[in-house]
Amino acid sequence: MTVDLLIRAATLADGRRDIDIAIDDGVIVAIGPRLDIEAARVIDAGGDLVTPPLIDSHLHLDSTLSLGLPRRNESGTLLEGIALWGELKPHLTIEAIYERARRLCLWSIAQGIGAIRSHVDICDDRLLAVEALTALRAEMAPFITIQLVAFPQDGYRRYERAAENLARALAMGLDVVGGIPHFERTMDEGAASVRDLMALAAARGLMVDMHCDESDDPQSRHIETLAAETIRHGMQGRVAGSHLTSLHSMDNYYASKLIPLIAEAGVSAIANPLINITLQGRHDTYPKRRGMTRVPELMAAGVNVAFGHDCVMDPWYPLGSHDMLEVAGMGLHVAQMTGVAGMRACFDAVTVNAAAAMGLSDYGIAVGRPAHLVVFDAGDPIEAIRLRAARRLVLRAGAIIAEAPAQRSLVMVGGESRTVDFRQPH
Ligand code: FE2
Repeated sequence: MTVDLLIRAATLADGRRDIDIAIDDGVIVAIGPRLDIEAARVIDAGGDLVTPPLIDSHLHLDSTLSLGLPRRNESGTLLEGIALWGELKPHLTIEAIYERARRLCLWSIAQGIGAIRSHVDICDDRLLAVEALTALRAEMAPFITIQLVAFPQDGYRRYERAAENLARALAMGLDVVGGIPHFERTMDEGAASVRDLMALAAARGLMVDMHCDESDDPQSRHIETLAAETIRHGMQGRVAGSHLTSLHSMDNYYASKLIPLIAEAGVSAIANPLINITLQGRHDTYPKRRGMTRVPELMAAGVNVAFGHDCVMDPWYPLGSHDMLEVAGMGLHVAQMTGVAGMRACFDAVTVNAAAAMGLSDYGIAVGRPAHLVVFDAGDPIEAIRLRAARRLVLRAGAIIAEAPAQRSLVMVGGESRTVDFRQPH
């Protein structure tokens, strides 16, 4: 048997070492130690980590790389960010949105990201971002999977044409129903928006991903309605709550009732550590709340928890290079998940858990799955996070679509030159 490609001596995320992966016609055809298979091309991983791609389950492609347009967010708050986005919207063009998002996608591919779920603001009656990003989704499909969420940024009930626009956006091909209940005018309106949007998604057979309770207000409890509606509509496994930061500020008794409800509903929780640590706690003096949702407690209860990047150089966040390892690193710091199991779980939050939140059915290293793979300059997932390790090779359906040199420095000390690689000595 001769296959197209054989990757030798890989270390897998689950700790298996010296594993060969055979790929033919873009698909994984065999996995095992020292496979006796001929290949047209052989890549020696040399014991480095090989995983399925990183996944960003929460991003805003329509605002990405717009930093400074028309001005910077000096307070750094969520509300100034939303106001700033409102100032930018009238000046947007399809071409500008497309070009910025396309540039970001090239960064994403270089960073080993295989899929992005992007929220798309539909509270612009021209729906320029919908047009731009559906075209980009098609162009990028061979290289990166893009899911688009119809996101009523200004409120589904609060913005008068949101319902009409959301229906138009879904007709134009958006994949997922979004929402922002904590931004509606009242708690009642927020809960009503959740019920409206869940009914709409259930009727159309669509997945749901709502910005939910992105607030420090412990009374912001829309996740409860979202979970209950998920059960009522039988949509377990197809719904995500993004942010859920109010859970950080709720009292422990209420959290002890709510977290099992989220688990029962099979609702994924998508935290955004880079953004939550900068946007939350803004009304506090000291002590200042971290604001990220209760990641280890949700995981312990069996909830699928993913981490998203959320923003890259836009009205809400001035930094970032779309590196999901940076996201995992921030998540483990904020959640204080520095034990071995905790750090590995944070790698899962930007890989397998994020894929589950997006409903990606062909994700993972297994026979019969597409050969979407990343070879890291690291020996295991924890080292990958620690080093934000170079993505030496990024493969899509068995083809190399990005490569980067390993990180090495030459140090001249005491009359000798030594190469430093920052790797854990064995
Ligand atoms: Fe977001």
